[in-house]
Amino acid sequence: MLTARIAVIVSGGGTNLQALIDSQGRGELKSGSIALVIADKAGIGAVGRAEAAGIDCVPILRREPGFEEQVLTALTEYNIDMVVLAGFLGILSGGFVQKFPGPIINIHPALIPSFCGKGFYGLRVHQAALDYGVKVTGATVHYVNAVVDGGQIIAQKAVDVLPGDTPEILQRRVMEQAEWVLLPQAAELVSAQIIREKESNI
Ligand code: GAR
Repeated sequence: MLTARIAVIVSGGGTNLQALIDSQGRGELKSGSIALVIADKAGIGAVGRAEAAGIDCVPILRREPGFEEQVLTALTEYNIDMVVLAGFLGILSGGFVQKFPGPIINIHPALIPSFCGKGFYGLRVHQAALDYGVKVTGATVHYVNAVVDGGQIIAQKAVDVLPGDTPEILQRRVMEQAEWVLLPQAAELVSAQIIREKESNI
């Protein structure tokens, strides 16, 4: 069966990558297949997860010059149709988004437009939600465009903030209840769309 070739870009522990791998294993993510993982740092947990799943994983260091050019080269070499940012903690330039012809989607650990944009990543997002005192937060999957966290929203899920939450506790709840569910669903949705477009061009 024709599937969309997915590259996942990661910066950390890779639990969202794992959710994508597991979803593919269960046959839920079926219109797309994870063909490549790009790790933007050395020694991150996501690398072991890619290797354990037998997925090609290339390190391309974000802090080194030429990061985006090297990523684009890898995406072309692997014939990638779609990019999933799964815990990618950098920012891709507008130029990058223009040059890659397929969709790029991102998971953000808050309900956009709250607690998003430059400087809002990882635990900082949850710290900001707690500092503000919101009672509900969540996660958002959106298309990536030139505006940080500004692309069209694909899916969102709300999660309660509970008394006594720390950024770490809240992060875990948002991952379990929202991120690990939403990201594979959105990856399937966008992959299916790519396949429909490919088939209509045959
Ligand atoms: C996740 O919570 C993800 O939403 C967030 O980083 C974490 C990575 O965890 N991403 C951002 O903050 C992007 N702005 P993971 O490596 O275990 O998937």
